[in-house]
Amino acid sequence: MAKERVKYVCQSCGYQSVKWKGRCPSCGEWNTLVEELVERGAFSVRTESRVLPLSEWEEESFERLSTGFSNLDLALGGGLVPGQVVLIAGEPGIGKSTLLLQVSERFEGKVLYVSGEESGSQIALRGRRLGLSGKDILLYPETLFERVLEVLEREGPDLLIVDSIQTLYSERLESSAGSVSQVREVTFRITEVCKERGIPCFIVGQITKEGAIAGPKVLEHIVDTVLQFEGERFNFYRIVKVVKNRFGSTGEVAVFRMTDSGLEEVPEPSAFFISEKVSAPGSVVFPYTEGSKPILVEIQALVLPALYTTPQRRTQGFDVNRLSLLLAILEKEANVFTKDSDVFVNVAGGISVREPAADLAVALAIVSSKKEKPVPEDVIVFGELGLAGEVRAVHFGEQRIMEAKRFGFKKAVIPSSQDIEIEGIETVPVSTLKEAVELLL
Ligand code: TYD
Ligand code: MG
Repeated sequence: MAKERVKYVCQSCGYQSVKWKGRCPSCGEWNTLVEELVERGAFSVRTESRVLPLSEWEEESFERLSTGFSNLDLALGGGLVPGQVVLIAGEPGIGKSTLLLQVSERFEGKVLYVSGEESGSQIALRGRRLGLSGKDILLYPETLFERVLEVLEREGPDLLIVDSIQTLYSERLESSAGSVSQVREVTFRITEVCKERGIPCFIVGQITKEGAIAGPKVLEHIVDTVLQFEGERFNFYRIVKVVKNRFGSTGEVAVFRMTDSGLEEVPEPSAFFISEKVSAPGSVVFPYTEGSKPILVEIQALVLPALYTTPQRRTQGFDVNRLSLLLAILEKEANVFTKDSDVFVNVAGGISVREPAADLAVALAIVSSKKEKPVPEDVIVFGELGLAGEVRAVHFGEQRIMEAKRFGFKKAVIPSSQDIEIEGIETVPVSTLKEAVELLL
């Protein structure tokens, strides 16, 4: 196939050139010019649209297809929608291929599994280890996108799996597989064909240690749904988080356990995450939620004197900049000084907690470790901290407390502006960090 005409477009300012340049002559940024096809128009399925008052638009109802994992279906908003393109991003070795192979087996219908990462026999070996029959799974090890397209036309599968997007390339572009232009072009065309045929698709995106979806973030706005695979590689918990979803809400979470025979659903994540909790100083239970279903997690802090080195601040599962902010608030508003101490914060189980609702729990875990005094075992804590040490209201207060109650917690320390009363659990409203520290420690 003859090469098509391409242009190079600056991703920062939109400048276009017929030749590649290392530095954009327009905005001066380096390495921002990316190869694109000249005739590529806007997303091309053109149907005539209507103008109607908002109140007269009816909600579209989608047919939902099961992935075979009920917790994953729930997180997706009820299952896959025909034509839905799901990007599943995660670090190498976390279990993306394992999960998708299991989904392939459980999905009702014919599955085309395109693998550019591993050979057919490697995947077959894994399939046998997982005890899969594999009779409805067509395995196609290939990296040239145009061939994949042919096979897709010929076989007409009900589900497409692409593992991984970084290994596929289109012959219409000159750049190599994994480059921004290739990753974008191929994702774009997969999306086009899946929408046209109404088949759902999972696209694997390898993520680097630094966190960007390699071949990068550019994918996120093309696809319908982005799933983030989290967890420690050497730990057996795996968390699939919905970070974008055009067909459901975001923040939803599905928890799995990696076993010898693949991934297993964890039906009660809260029980799982606090099962190993000890009543030692520095440990606080926090009801985490970004979606609709809270999960109890254990926040751990370790504060110890930094005798010979510059004090360290390290976190696992929590933003290290947020930690610095909390340490400043602790010093200014609660007289808890850590400038000569190392401070480590860890969210047990490998889940990462990004919401500010965890502030108060993290701050109390730090104080608890510093004072070597445990926080009472039957207490959960949530609330965002403002710079003046005030405890601010957060979303889903009631759901968080209900989850704690379900697991036998007796007391919930909550923002005073959230007036929640639930039978069977005592709510303790606090308005400042200082008040919370005096109350619990
Ligand atoms: P894999 O699915 O290959 O990861 P990814 O596609 O995200 O790179 O997962 C590989 C890891 O999972 C590997 O370290 C071995 C482990 N594993 C199990 O523990 N049990 C199993 O049944 C399988 C298939 C893999
Ligand atoms: Mg893989």
